[in-house]
Amino acid sequence: MYLPHSPVVNSWNEWDPLREVVVGSADAACFEPTEPGSRPRIRSTPDKPFPTGMKSKEAISLANEELAGLVALLEAQGVTVRRPSPRPFATSIRTPDFEVSNQYCAVCPRDVMITIGNEIIEATMSRRARYFEFQAYRSLVYEYWNADPRVQWTTAPKPSMADGMYREEFWDWPVEERHAKMHSFEFCIQQDEVIFDAADMSRFGRDILVQESMTTNRAGIRWLKRHLEPGGFRIHPVHFPLDFYPSHIDCTFVPLRPGLILTNPDRPLRDGEEAMFLENDWELLEAPQPILGNDEMPPYCQSSKWLSMNVLSISPTKIICEESEKPLQDLLASRGFEVFPIPFRNVFEYGGSLHCATWDVRRDGSKENYFPHLTYEPLVQPAQP
Ligand code: ARG
Repeated sequence: MYLPHSPVVNSWNEWDPLREVVVGSADAACFEPTEPGSRPRIRSTPDKPFPTGMKSKEAISLANEELAGLVALLEAQGVTVRRPSPRPFATSIRTPDFEVSNQYCAVCPRDVMITIGNEIIEATMSRRARYFEFQAYRSLVYEYWNADPRVQWTTAPKPSMADGMYREEFWDWPVEERHAKMHSFEFCIQQDEVIFDAADMSRFGRDILVQESMTTNRAGIRWLKRHLEPGGFRIHPVHFPLDFYPSHIDCTFVPLRPGLILTNPDRPLRDGEEAMFLENDWELLEAPQPILGNDEMPPYCQSSKWLSMNVLSISPTKIICEESEKPLQDLLASRGFEVFPIPFRNVFEYGGSLHCATWDVRRDGSKENYFPHLTYEPLVQPAQP
């Protein structure tokens, strides 16, 4: 078998030069259903019932046009772009443990799939409507896996998603209660089963951050540690106590290149957790306020205004931003980045922005140590060479 120099699956961080990426698709996208792990609300009229079933043809084509714009830009930059397979998201699903009236979409591969070096991991997922979302990426995974024997493929254990896996009262906690509980990091999922969404991770070579959130619990982080630490990775749980509804780290703490992380001024790290960055010469750069306020986000969008920070790196010097986010674009340009602005707001109601809507399969580079001054006790000792 002919083996190209770099494995077909090879991505160790969020910024090395991008060679192949999967961009999501809004085909057959549905509104996320109300379920124990999610209480979607219409922003402008939170008391009106949230729509169910398939989104309108118009909304789907607006999102698909912007996704096509992202594809065109990436291809013009020499990046190979792949797309998910069509899936029947409007169908209900039923397992022995739960039933849900419709599924969601394949706009955000970032939430489901992650490349860690030469390994693809399918996340457990945390919401019922997203249980089978991995299916949209299976034919790509088979293709990569068949093409190169160096590719590892892991599917994390599927949780039951039975009623008992969730803490439904979470949704009714008043703000004062959330405030009082901010350091307990207890959200709408319980701690017994292994639960994580891929987008709660951020990759820095041999160091990987994992956010405890509404979509990733402590058992999920333990599973990732036991799975990855024997291979020489170091898994660092991180917390942002002022984010009362945390899910997915890529609007909160976004590495841009070695030594530089874009941070969210509303969501500081838990006391003490910034030390590993500062002691290893990483600069924490605060993102400017987004152009849209939380009240101005699209009515069906469930994410915060901080989708502004959800940028995608083409390389350590080239970065894609939403076109209206001028202050962020100017900040990045002042730091030496070539910024590529593209319209993406019509994608927001499908779960995210530019980073969410992609899954990088291949970037240049290898497993580097960006934290040389770290004292770290792995849960599992790395295997001796
Ligand atoms: N929960 C985040 C926020 O509202 C949005 C995260 C979107 N990221 C993603 N990978 N889908 O700030």
